[in-house]
Amino acid sequence: MAKELTFSIIKPNAMKKNVIGDVIETFEKNGLKIAAAKLMVISKDKCQEFYAEHKERPFFGELVSFMTSGPVMVMVLSGENAVVKNREIMGATDPKKAAVGTIRAIYGDSVGENAVHGSDSPVSAAREINLFFEKHEICNE
Ligand code: RTP
Ligand code: MG
Repeated sequence: MAKELTFSIIKPNAMKKNVIGDVIETFEKNGLKIAAAKLMVISKDKCQEFYAEHKERPFFGELVSFMTSGPVMVMVLSGENAVVKNREIMGATDPKKAAVGTIRAIYGDSVGENAVHGSDSPVSAAREINLFFEKHEICNE
């Protein structure tokens, strides 16, 4: 299968736990490679655009306020079947329902503060990567 890119965010609650290293190690042990990475505080405008598909949902305000509440790490991951693989490694959206050993089961605090984001399809991945990275910042070898 061809190599694929996906987009990942270590969310503010996981950043506060000081576990960037463990999250990245989990990706690497599962065959995903970091193709781009940076720390930032996402602006409110950018976050609303990023989560545009959820703008009518009741939790939208809370979601944007949480995701802009502190530093995050945005990343591009590469590997075979990267979108699906990353979703498996993250676990279910609700940490209480996430499989044992997944990042959300270990570092998620609630359905909102669930430690990591991962693109849900290759089309979403391309849109999300373009929002946060310039082409020259991606090392996709
Ligand atoms: P993500 O986009 O962050 O990777 O998560 P996901 O695909 O598993 O979940 P999605 O349905 O896309 O929801 C996006 C994020 O919104 C927050 N959320 N809060 N309070 C709630 O009921 C609720 N439901 C979703 C979560 O932070 C979720 O990751
Ligand atoms: Mg999603």
